[in-house]
Amino acid sequence: MTPPEKNAHDASHAAAVGQAIPMTTRRFGSWEVLISRRVLSSADLASRYDAVSGKWARTARRFRLNAAYCKPLLASQIVIDLMQVQPQARVLDCGVGNGSLSIALNSLLRDPADFHAIDTSAEMLVQAKSAMQHAGLDPDLQQADVLSLPYQDQSFDVVMAAHVLEHLPDPQLALAEMVRVLKPGGMVFLCVTRPSLFGALVQLLWRTWAISDQEGIAWLNASQLVDVGYQPVRLGSAGFASNAFWARRSL
Ligand SMILES: C[S@@+](CC[C@H](N)C(=O)[O-])C[C@H]1O[C@@H](n2cnc3c(N)ncnc32)[C@H](O)[C@@H]1O
Repeated sequence: MTPPEKNAHDASHAAAVGQAIPMTTRRFGSWEVLISRRVLSSADLASRYDAVSGKWARTARRFRLNAAYCKPLLASQIVIDLMQVQPQARVLDCGVGNGSLSIALNSLLRDPADFHAIDTSAEMLVQAKSAMQHAGLDPDLQQADVLSLPYQDQSFDVVMAAHVLEHLPDPQLALAEMVRVLKPGGMVFLCVTRPSLFGALVQLLWRTWAISDQEGIAWLNASQLVDVGYQPVRLGSAGFASNAFWARRSL
């Protein structure tokens, strides 16, 4: 169990050491050793994703992302909520990749929503456009950072991000920005890598966080969100390598 104070400590430590992400903490008697790693710069991360963008569809298939995302989306209230929004619900997917999360949500909706999506990687946006159009979506796509969303306050019914926040030294800043563009009563949905063998491999390759259940919940609570829920997400052969979290902006 990781108490919220420890998460706050880790996050403030990340800021203090200058854009580093805590990887692991070990205690030896009275000693506590925190190993953190400097994050990739935004530009380096975007060019790494540009480089793998052509293979992302295969990655998404390998980890069965569409099916993986459908389960927690159904477990949250999101699908029911969106069905009640008239005339058309507005959905924002941050760090869209090739669109797996939006495509999964769209497959669960009776009426089409107005999908918007951002990503820092230009090549990922090319993949997103083609995959989302293939799935019958006509998204509005923009190259932008989740830390500075090019949208007005309170303009979306759902704001979501899958496997994005773990790249950031302070995920709570991104969450605050996502909440800014969320309408009162709207829902935020996150999927993030959790601590596991697979998570450790992702951490090594991508310098990401592995975010525990308690950390994710603490971040949502700290953002003044309500109706917080979560469930482990099975990513194909990688097993339960991620957690989905959801919560509502209070009215
Ligand atoms: C692991 S991929 C996940 C893609 C997609 N959400 C999915 O679940 O398949 C992470 C994506 O987030 C994007 N990304 C990373 N940091 C970002 C940031 N600060 N703002 C917006 N997008 C970002 C990357 O370019 C990449 O497309």
